[in-house]
Amino acid sequence: MPKVFITRNLPTDLTLLEKFASVEVWHERQPPTYEVLLSKVRSIDGLLCLLTDKIDKELIQAATNLRVISQMAVGYDNIDVSAATARKIPIGNTPGVLTDATADLTWALLMASARRIVEADKFTRALLWHTWEPDLLLGADITGATLGIIGFGRIGQAVARRASGFDMPIIYTSRNPCNKELENRLNAQFVSLETLLKQSDFVTIHTPLTSDTYHLFGRTQFEMMKQSAILINTARGGIVNQDELYNALITNQIAGAAIDVTDPEPIPSNSPLLNLNNLVIAPHIGSASYKTRKKMADMAIENLIAGLKGEQLPYSVNSATLTQSD
Ligand code: DGY
Repeated sequence: MPKVFITRNLPTDLTLLEKFASVEVWHERQPPTYEVLLSKVRSIDGLLCLLTDKIDKELIQAATNLRVISQMAVGYDNIDVSAATARKIPIGNTPGVLTDATADLTWALLMASARRIVEADKFTRALLWHTWEPDLLLGADITGATLGIIGFGRIGQAVARRASGFDMPIIYTSRNPCNKELENRLNAQFVSLETLLKQSDFVTIHTPLTSDTYHLFGRTQFEMMKQSAILINTARGGIVNQDELYNALITNQIAGAAIDVTDPEPIPSNSPLLNLNNLVIAPHIGSASYKTRKKMADMAIENLIAGLKGEQLPYSVNSATLTQSD
């Protein structure tokens, strides 16, 4: 039987997988260290990993029997895709199933930041609510505000759909504009990044982390934004330069931010971001709904089984390049 290693407990049943493979699960709460992972991959045929596992060239080269890497996430910036492709190892991911949960959390963060929900909660628990005050905890208006979406794929578009109840004009950037019919339906207009930053009241990031998007947000970008603007990031921490985010927030260059992702993760205990009232931080929970996480785990298992059988993965990130290199 082929051997597989799963780097964490999964929120689903493994019975189907166990018919095909001898399964070892890492049951600890913390991920396996790189060294542990390196020793495990030497003898396995299939790996089911998470975004917290660094699957680099060295690890892939050490995994001499490895036939499939199945990531339980849509993003796969933790995996050296070229190294896996060079060894003809298919990589699977879990697109689509977490779109709605992530778009929902984006809105939760947008609204929490605009209407200062976290501050309001702390204020109430500190027993500071003595009376109704005309200027207590005033926040940004959402209805009618301009929403700027960076990256207009599945999640970006799902965020746009949710904006229709708030009568928000939408401007977006992406590699290519989408078709006019979709733009009209979503009330969205394709613009340059500069225009988006200058015109948006809320800027939300939905692009993958790549060498092109690493630190896409730095001082220059914050300086282009409105002082009243709020930044939301539910994509990857590395897209935003965190020192520059801190500067932008502490100097009120922008009004606020809400982030579900940091760089590194978890956020270090001495990060100055932890002291800011105009920043909401969540611990990378965009896809953390019961149904979504189960669907992600099931999809990752489906990919793993297909890879072990030598079949095309149903959800593959490198199938096109694998075919080309055949
Ligand atoms: C992903 O899937 O890439 C998310 O960041 C975690 O669900």
